Amino acid sequence: MDGLAIGGSGTVVAPLNFLEPMVEKPFSYNYEPPPGTPLRNTREETHQVEIYDARSAANQISLDREGFILRNAPTAASDLYDEAQIVAIYYPECEKLIAQATGATRVLAFDHIVRNPARSTSGNKIKLPAGRVHNDYTAASAPQRVRDLMGDEAEDLLKRRYAEINVWRPIRGPLLSSPLALCDARTLLPDNLIASELRYPDRTGEIYGVTYNPRQRWYYFPKMTADECILIRCFDSAREGAARFSAHGAFDDPNTPAAAPPRESIEVRALVFF
Ligand code: OGA
Ligand code: FE
Repeated sequence: MDGLAIGGSGTVVAPLNFLEPMVEKPFSYNYEPPPGTPLRNTREETHQVEIYDARSAANQISLDREGFILRNAPTAASDLYDEAQIVAIYYPECEKLIAQATGATRVLAFDHIVRNPARSTSGNKIKLPAGRVHNDYTAASAPQRVRDLMGDEAEDLLKRRYAEINVWRPIRGPLLSSPLALCDARTLLPDNLIASELRYPDRTGEIYGVTYNPRQRWYYFPKMTADECILIRCFDSAREGAARFSAHGAFDDPNTPAAAPPRESIEVRALVFF
């Protein structure tokens, strides 16, 4: 693997939580499972991994190669906990950002998750950081999302190149707790992408759990500000050039000060058409 000029001063060795290899198809429930069925049939396998500080290489990194980029792009939304502002102000900003970064002709933001362990309760939609390494879409669920969201247009849109990209941003910075680790997509082997069911009351989604491989190269951007965001290319239908999938997950940073505030972040999911 050719190397980026990596190893900025923030490079750390930290635990990343992978999927333990298994025979059955992995599943997990996002609601109370039927009696006798466990919440999930998976186990985590934690590895100490070198996670490179990608800040010094940020200008060399590309969405088509590594599968993620860092952008300085302040938002005009004053409160990213406000659902109305998220949809009315932040979604269009993310769509524009993705269009500019990719040259896409059409971008549709369709979903978001706000994460903050201090505010997450069973009664709200705020989530914890996702500490299991994964990719948000699989070869099956990527086109399914287009079908679910694009109605009559879907089959036509699926004939041309499309992608699924997330915009991930700290709500408050500098982000010191539970930063996001990102795998260089070129170092992610298909054998390590394990299709896993996410069972919801009304539908079953599919993501990739990721098993460990020492070939994988991991990066993060230390101390992200609320003006910065990461674009993560989770899927790209292009079969040449771009890797089709990527992987990411939150990790416990050994440099996190004891008094650091909890992680506050928002990720927006978007369909991207070329
Ligand atoms: C995502 C994601 C995890 C986190 O943005 O798709 O998985 O902890 N985020 O923010
Ligand atoms: Fe994700």
